[in-house]
Amino acid sequence: MAQHVEIMLTEEQVEERIRELGEQISRDYQGKTIHLICVLKGGSFYLCELAKRITVPVTLDFMSVSSYGASTKSSGVVRIVKDLDEPIEGKDVLVVEDIVDSGRTLSYLLPLLKDRGPVSVKLTTLLDKPDRRETDVKVDYTGFAIPDKFVVGYGLDYDQKYRNLPYIGEMVFD
Ligand code: IMP
Ligand code: MG
Repeated sequence: MAQHVEIMLTEEQVEERIRELGEQISRDYQGKTIHLICVLKGGSFYLCELAKRITVPVTLDFMSVSSYGASTKSSGVVRIVKDLDEPIEGKDVLVVEDIVDSGRTLSYLLPLLKDRGPVSVKLTTLLDKPDRRETDVKVDYTGFAIPDKFVVGYGLDYDQKYRNLPYIGEMVFD
């Protein structure tokens, strides 16, 4: 099937919004250290840009869970492919995601992290597709709420490609 990408959010729009979120998060965590947990691979571009805009001390860790493969539909199967390197006990955790779609991934991940004894667990996502939600997931910091379209770029992939686009594009299937 042929496909092409149309720009939904420009590089400037995305970077401006991440700057705002960085300022807001820095204010909310005044006097604390934020332990950023990036959900690989999609969250990695947002993580880098966000971390640079946060002015309180930050530590980083990474986790990888099973994701879509070549299909654009969620399989509903969530599996930890790579766990965290460090314990999170006593830490203020902020989970960094690329997108919340059905919410299945985070409905699995957030309770699991909370069980490990952190002081707090919050969630930030660059993109949110609220119309697609199947489970109850509370997002603390949202970059953009977007319509129910398949998007790529800024870490998001279609069949592992397009992650490197510096903007958010809509995948249009011709
Ligand atoms: P959820 O479990 O359905 O909320 O979504 C899990 C994951 O699916 C996200 O973290 C993304 O990696 C991927 N995903 C969902 N929607 C899109 C999309 O529009 N483009 C690319 N990946 C997506
Ligand atoms: Mg993801």
